[in-house]
Amino acid sequence: MAKITVYLSGSIAAYKGVEVVRGLQKAGHTVRVVMTAAATKLVGPATLNALTKYPVLTDLWDDQTQPIPHIELADWTELALVVPASADLLAKLANGIADDAASTTLLATAAPKIVAPAMNRQMWAAPATQRNLARLKSDGVTVIEPVTGRLAEGYQGHGRLPEPDQIVAQVQDFLQARARLAGKRVVVTAGGTREPLDPVRYIGNRSSGKMGIAIARAAAQAGAQVTLITGQVSVPVPDDPQIEVVTALTTEEMLAAVQTAFKKADALVMAAAVADYRPVAVANQKVKKAADHGGWTLELTETVDILKTVAATKRPDQLVVGFAAETEQLLAHAQDKLASKHADLIVANSVAGSTGAFGRDDDQVTILRQGRQPEQWPRMTKTAVARRLVAELATKMK
Ligand code: CTP
Repeated sequence: MAKITVYLSGSIAAYKGVEVVRGLQKAGHTVRVVMTAAATKLVGPATLNALTKYPVLTDLWDDQTQPIPHIELADWTELALVVPASADLLAKLANGIADDAASTTLLATAAPKIVAPAMNRQMWAAPATQRNLARLKSDGVTVIEPVTGRLAEGYQGHGRLPEPDQIVAQVQDFLQARARLAGKRVVVTAGGTREPLDPVRYIGNRSSGKMGIAIARAAAQAGAQVTLITGQVSVPVPDDPQIEVVTALTTEEMLAAVQTAFKKADALVMAAAVADYRPVAVANQKVKKAADHGGWTLELTETVDILKTVAATKRPDQLVVGFAAETEQLLAHAQDKLASKHADLIVANSVAGSTGAFGRDDDQVTILRQGRQPEQWPRMTKTAVARRLVAELATKMK
């Protein structure tokens, strides 16, 4: 059972927040409450005080019995739930603004955060709100999406808070998912490796790192301690105490980093697009354009296969997942990789054309396992693919 801090902010749906508090208590959790000034105009703090048997934090300067009440509460918290989350509180959380009890305590909380926005449909659709939500998601905050329904304004629209029992159910799912990989160590590689030609040029590939980073986040959300080994990535890497980020730009560097991390790991997910060839010679100085040159012929040699090398050393209790990036004959090539690379599971995806996986936010993957039929998953966001893959790992690691 978790210690949950519920934040109520200034949305008409604040009364539903009271029901959420009760629902969480019925499910066995211990709940404490923080309210914004606007929320106290809509719901009485006395009600929440009576329900939780804890003082309700509404003002940083109120409580003379605790020297720093918001830090005590932030440290106590195992899960922070903002319900309803107003556009204003979302904006503060997304931008690190701490100018009242709720925003300050949220900023001081290292625990995972879930926000359940509720607001007028125009406020929801406003570019600033959507920007803040995207920012929060990339910071690892879970968003319970609002639904379409009758708004307080009297018309139908998007922005309505889901019913309290649905919110409680989503919190329960979140907490269960978190426990799935508790105590496990997972190594994930992301992005593309690059092989230098000279001090300014390299051979690389178009991998963005989105899939590997999504897997690292999903594993951390499932409670694992994650080592994220990144090559070249074009998206921000997570800033999360559960995710240790190691940079390894060349294939050799990535091999060394993976070998070190894998020794202590329960699972390895090789989502990186590793360069297969590197120049035989790397020039010390920038190679100059000579008038009589006419061209530059590169001699390339194969790089080490990280997945194959590391998977060959795996203990029976360790799990290894590879990817297969193909532009044609997806299943046949992916089957070959499953067999030749000693992987427990291969995630096959297409990297051909505009629907190919590179750089996109969504992906359509097929899962291959030893002795089983390939399983085609529908096209979904990389975050959703990552969550499902992590759930699959958790089942296998039990
Ligand atoms: N991989 C690796 N080391 C390499 C090449 C690939 O560890 N030198 C890993 C990738 O991280 C991925 C899997 O092997 O998990 C398959 O990578 P992919 O690029 O699809 O295939 P390759 O093995 O490179 O084979 P090919 O280029 O012939 O498709």
